[in-house]
Amino acid sequence: MFAGDTVPCTVVVGGFWGDEGKGKIISYLALKDAVDVCIRTGSVNAAHTIWYKGKRYALHMVPGGFVHKKCRLLVGPGTNVHVGQFLKEVKMTEVKNRIGVDRQASIIEEKHSALDKSNAHLKGLGTTGWGVGPAIEERVRRTAKLAKDTLELKPYLTDVAEEANNAITEGKNVILEGTQGIMLSLFYGTYPYVTGRDTSASAICSEAGVGPSKVDEVLVVFKAFMTRVGAGPLPGEISKEEAEKRGWFEVAAGTGRDRRSAPFDFGVAEKAVTIHSATQAAVTKLDCIYPECKDVKKFDELPKKAKLFISRVEHRTKIPVVLVGTGPDAADIIDRRK
Ligand code: IMP
Ligand code: MG
Repeated sequence: MFAGDTVPCTVVVGGFWGDEGKGKIISYLALKDAVDVCIRTGSVNAAHTIWYKGKRYALHMVPGGFVHKKCRLLVGPGTNVHVGQFLKEVKMTEVKNRIGVDRQASIIEEKHSALDKSNAHLKGLGTTGWGVGPAIEERVRRTAKLAKDTLELKPYLTDVAEEANNAITEGKNVILEGTQGIMLSLFYGTYPYVTGRDTSASAICSEAGVGPSKVDEVLVVFKAFMTRVGAGPLPGEISKEEAEKRGWFEVAAGTGRDRRSAPFDFGVAEKAVTIHSATQAAVTKLDCIYPECKDVKKFDELPKKAKLFISRVEHRTKIPVVLVGTGPDAADIIDRRK
């Protein structure tokens, strides 16, 4: 496959409670498909972890496509921008000359974080404490500060919907980078133990300014097991000790909190595929449940039980598993696309 063969517009979304490895998948696609434009949605609460050339990046604002040096990076109008974090990451990833922020994106401020941390209800939900709920409340009240009113963002301001739609019309490769997972959706998740917005593929398109008829693929990312941080139900949850024994125990990239974990749930996966209208799936961290998979790059070289697991995911969700993660680096992937 070469870059010209790929589909122009792909939405990448989460199939569980976030932390499925969307950052890794996006970084792989950006490099492999020479993606032209990558658009971040959501807010600073979602950290996308990317391992590239031995270095780990936990990005809260900069799109995961930054690893491809020619990729234009955009932060969509539906996002809540944390100015300090944005500037810090722009510097760290050295993307000053190729990143833009939509004029209408709203700004998340210190006061929102303070409210998030001091409110007993929000604390009970186990929010990340970044203030995303309160920032969205303020936006809905129509008193929020916008990117266009922010001096530090002046050099970055753009019209993301216009750039995105032009790129798609020109046949360029565009990724809409979803955040979190369907089970944290304000509409479809385990309410009230959810985030402050919808996280479905439709919502990601809306936050980026791209309509459904422009989307070619909806790629849902699953991890080979499930995790969640914060409070709320997690079907099949195992203890921390058991998770450690199985090699599944994780710490949140954003907040440093312990991630709770459970085996892959096919019912949840089916629901995710339905609501996202996903056309293809990725399964990450297969090496965490089958250590013999580590660094394998060809599907045929996987152990039989790992292949069976992937077949079962395909059978239950009725969509192909096109990408399989076998290690942390952007390059540790089995690519089954034609
Ligand atoms: P909030 O989004 O900070 O309001 O937190 C609401 C819930 O969503 C909490 O359970 C958080 O742990 C969870 N959450 C928010 N963002 C992420 C994420 O990027 N990954 C995993 N969980 C998240
Ligand atoms: Mg994360």
